[in-house]
Amino acid sequence: MSGRFRGIVERRAALEQAEAARYAGKFDGSGKLSPRQRLARLFDGGLFEELGRFERNDSEPSAIAGDGVITAVGRVDGQLVYAYSQDYTFLGGSLGQVQARKIVAVQDLALAHAAPVVALIESGGARIQEGIDALDGYGQIFSRNVASSGAVAQIAVIFGSCAGGASYAPALMDFIVMVEGRSRMFVTGPDVIRAVTGEAVSFEDLGGSAVHSGTSGVVHFVAKDEVSAIERVKTILGYIAPGREVVASDGGRRSPNPFWRNKDADIDAILPDLPSKSYDMHALIDAVCDAGSVVECQESWAQNCITAFARIDGRAVAVVANQPKVKAGCIDIDASDKMARFIRTCDSFRLPIVTFVDTPGYLPGVAQERGGIIRHGAKLLYAYGEARVCKLTVVVRKAYGGAYIAMGSKALGADRVFAFPTAEIAVMGGDAAVRIIAKKELAQSDRPDELLRRKVEEYRATVMDPLVAAGKGYVDDIVLPSETRARLSACLMAEDDVKRSFFRHGNIPL
Ligand code: HXC
Repeated sequence: MSGRFRGIVERRAALEQAEAARYAGKFDGSGKLSPRQRLARLFDGGLFEELGRFERNDSEPSAIAGDGVITAVGRVDGQLVYAYSQDYTFLGGSLGQVQARKIVAVQDLALAHAAPVVALIESGGARIQEGIDALDGYGQIFSRNVASSGAVAQIAVIFGSCAGGASYAPALMDFIVMVEGRSRMFVTGPDVIRAVTGEAVSFEDLGGSAVHSGTSGVVHFVAKDEVSAIERVKTILGYIAPGREVVASDGGRRSPNPFWRNKDADIDAILPDLPSKSYDMHALIDAVCDAGSVVECQESWAQNCITAFARIDGRAVAVVANQPKVKAGCIDIDASDKMARFIRTCDSFRLPIVTFVDTPGYLPGVAQERGGIIRHGAKLLYAYGEARVCKLTVVVRKAYGGAYIAMGSKALGADRVFAFPTAEIAVMGGDAAVRIIAKKELAQSDRPDELLRRKVEEYRATVMDPLVAAGKGYVDDIVLPSETRARLSACLMAEDDVKRSFFRHGNIPL
């Protein structure tokens, strides 16, 4: 080797040795990957180009090249992706000004190249020794998170501690993935909480994956280990920022002609004969969408609604649904937030929204009113009203009151509304409605039960029947469950044709 190059080659080798020494014994055996291995798992062929490898903060006595973060660019399923991976072995992955500068550089490049950003996070937050420089660093990152929101996909994976400022960058991103039993996210840790409020709490009970997936709703996906967490990122990217044309793998259920109305007895059997009997909306979604394509988001939080990525005849869609099995499918504060955010995110990434409606309405209750169901419920109305993507709605059973309007109604801009023959569309359910509008008659009747039954039947036929809504143009067609897949597919195919020529409303060529 030429003597001229020896210096840099030795510097590089020293850097690799120092990293190996820091990693030694820390990441082997327990399924914990090193920051570099995490990146290698993410990128196609384990290949990526590292950026800012020699950047360091010389004012820090223990300064290392890279300043505790590896920033990189590579390909994920063929798509250009930027990523950063924090190095927990250096000052707990805490963020100082050099680390922040490196992350900001990646965010700026990603935005300029319209490429997704993946944040692989393990950090104690703002680096205490760097004071205001560290705080400014987070501010710079947050402002890029905001500027990138809706423009490029931003996904965070939390591998271990994610404290203080470290938790807000993921919170400003589109999706957060946690690793079961390992990740813990909090703004202030157990020690500070004990000192301030006197409450004693463990790391897991404060910010573990069970808390954030089931109670706080902060995270969207939980993976059983680090490798699955990274795989989950690739799956999400496959829906919101696909690198290659995704071919449908639908187990043979794909209709050869989307206009062909196939008979599928299984789908028709999902809905029970009795209108009051519950059923699992997941079964209907699974039957309508391509086999194995449904990936649920926030599956353990606000389970009275369902938000999921899926494919119909190979086309990626966002599915939003009420779940009659939980709280009868009522829309409460958490469900409003969950559906509204998912709709807005998917709208940004041009995913058509397919809505399955079965809800008796917004959840009544003092706690809900005082908690601001008006404020939170409005987010759902806003999200549907604002979404510019193709919106397809299927009214399965109940669509009552404000929830009828909110769940992708024609009035809020649905492109197509289908209703099953079982649909009940009205201001409220039959029993409640008759008790109000025929109050005097019922009070004066000698056989009030008989009168109530007759009046409810009459109300069902003349007010709630989907043919009434179809006759007024609020519903486009009455379809059988077995016809739904083909009908939705036809709409999506038409939408594809529109998208090919111009992006709706914006006239932006694709
Ligand atoms: C500097 C830090 C650090 C930090 C951890 N370390 N956090 N160094 N700044 N914020 C260092 C430790 O000194 C230690 O260094 C190493 O990282 C590992 O830390 P441990 O405590 O030994 O690890 P562990 O027991 O796993 O606990 C991890 C932890 C804990 C839960 C993250 O370190 C912790 O509570 N850190 C502080 C978290 C925090 O309060 N951050 C908020 C900062 S304020 P050595 O040399 O001993 O290995 C903030 C404000 C931003 O972020 C607001 C934006 C809105």
